[in-house]
Amino acid sequence: MLELIKRCPEYVEGYKEYCREMYDNNVIYFRPTNPDYIDDGWFFRTKPWYDRKEQGLAEGQPVSFHYWAVDGGKFIGEFQLRTDFPEKVMLDIGSIGYAVRPSEQGKGYGKEILRLGLELARGHGMEKVLLTINDENKASIHLCESMGGVWEDTVEACNEAEGQHLLRRYWITL
Ligand SMILES: CC(C)(COP(=O)(O)OP(=O)(O)OC[C@H]1O[C@@H](n2cnc3c(N)ncnc32)[C@H](O)[C@@H]1OP(=O)(O)O)[C@@H](O)C(=O)NCCC(=O)NCCS
Repeated sequence: MLELIKRCPEYVEGYKEYCREMYDNNVIYFRPTNPDYIDDGWFFRTKPWYDRKEQGLAEGQPVSFHYWAVDGGKFIGEFQLRTDFPEKVMLDIGSIGYAVRPSEQGKGYGKEILRLGLELARGHGMEKVLLTINDENKASIHLCESMGGVWEDTVEACNEAEGQHLLRRYWITL
């Protein structure tokens, strides 16, 4: 059974394998941590940063909660939730980020991660979430629309991994 769990030392090796797979497959729509940075001390070295993000105390970062998706001990993917709506959320990263490692895609995990993630968003008192999706990301567009995403508009965007691109913005009402 798929679960979304908070980051924890027990799954660091699984997280690293997932990051490696994402990098090896050159997934541009969601960039996790560079696996080369994940060494024995990585979890506790980075923990204060993630804690500050949750409290909205990380400079230049929206309030963010990071979850790992695991199934029966296997690392599957991740889910990120941003609970406020600064410009970075509205015009760039959206309220939600999700990814499934390439070897586990197409098995329904993406849908389950989003379903569980929307429950978490509700639990945070959110009434709606914004998803921002590259216009060429057919899998994510399909998934978002199948979960009730309502297209708002398409804006121009640019980042290192995706370059200049069109970004669709969708609202999901919770
Ligand atoms: C988007 C992503 C999370 C989907 O995960 P997944 O586990 O493959 O998705 P699922 O198996 O749950 O499929 C969900 C739906 O999308 C459809 N789908 C999957 N891949 C598709 C594709 N390439 N094109 C069109 N539809 C696709 C499935 O058929 C399914 O539709 P259905 O419910 O109508 O049957 C995954 O492709 C991924 O991690 N991509 C890279 C990171 C990313 O793009 N994140 C989102 C950034 S906005």
